[in-house]
Amino acid sequence: YVAELDASDIEKGTYPYYMLKEIDEQPVVMRKIVQKYQTIDGEIAIDQDLLTTLKSSDRVYIVACGTSSHAGWASKKFFETLTHLPVEIHLSSEFGYNMPLLSKKPFFIYLSQSGETADSRQVLVKTNELGHPSLTITNVAGSTLSREATYTLLLHAGPEIAVASTKAYTAQIAVMAVLAKALGTEKGIANAVEFDLFHELGLIATAMETMINEKEHLEELTANYLSATRNAFYIGRGNDYYVSMEAALKLKEISYIQAEGFAAGELKHGTIALIEEGTPVIGIITDAVTGQHTRGNLQEVKSRGANTLVISSEGLAKPDDQILLPTVHPLLTSLLAVVPTQLIAYFATLQRGYDVDKPRNLAKSVTVE
Ligand code: G6P
Repeated sequence: YVAELDASDIEKGTYPYYMLKEIDEQPVVMRKIVQKYQTIDGEIAIDQDLLTTLKSSDRVYIVACGTSSHAGWASKKFFETLTHLPVEIHLSSEFGYNMPLLSKKPFFIYLSQSGETADSRQVLVKTNELGHPSLTITNVAGSTLSREATYTLLLHAGPEIAVASTKAYTAQIAVMAVLAKALGTEKGIANAVEFDLFHELGLIATAMETMINEKEHLEELTANYLSATRNAFYIGRGNDYYVSMEAALKLKEISYIQAEGFAAGELKHGTIALIEEGTPVIGIITDAVTGQHTRGNLQEVKSRGANTLVISSEGLAKPDDQILLPTVHPLLTSLLAVVPTQLIAYFATLQRGYDVDKPRNLAKSVTVE
């Protein structure tokens, strides 16, 4: 796996922090994934044996921790849409000891940047004992989880050094999309056959560049809305909710702002009690139908004093929305919506005077249960 790694990948160069470099690398990683998973005839290069096994499975169980579990959530909708296979997402630390009743023909997907996370490995050991097929999607070839699973796919994201994961999250979603497209096409599902994934990922890469060029604007918004706050909320529905969970985790991990990613409609059933004068609430809106409801929820918190900030897709934007996302394929909006939230976490951390790459109490790879 040394071929994946060259010296320039692990040096910061002119970057002050690895995290910023890794955020900036995401468009390149998207293009790399297209290149690595495309055959010369433009077909998808995925092991036929893996597709055959998946085709005979009746349910996908994604097992992961932290950011990788959020990548699982962000993949659920497109995976189900393109493959007609139900997908469940589970936290490794819960699943191993509280295994739910499994379907007749389960297929396990382990998402792990490092491929070494002990919580995930203990589940893999158990599902191996039960004889269930598995796939590890990881950034590290030859890692423990990739060696012990039935199949493995690589993220091709290059080394991720910053403790806060960024490019591995988007790479995991993109590789899950490649797998979904391949499986759905294999099953002859029209949604998958008609989905021009490689083209769409190219458009995502360009849209990511547009967001990455918005750094000054995002730095200023972060200073105005977040740098001096004790707590904050990200809200959304569906995929926008799943991105909210990751956005909040990023903010917590490195800026130490207590942040929660919340299902926008659920806020009023209790958590809205935490909204005070000046509490930042960031709404993510990339879907026309649920977006209208999220706007209603933003109005509710605003009238209780919240400082609201909106990240919305261009076609759905209102004049006051502060962060505009270029329009991309509706199944893949998470890949783009997460980018400004990564930059918000980065700038909030700098503005509050903390070390971006080495947050307190955290390790890049956790090899104890
Ligand atoms: C650690 C890291 C997180 C990461 C999680 C899962 O807690 O600090 O950033 O998301 O492990 O890691 P994995 O390597 O399995 O994706």
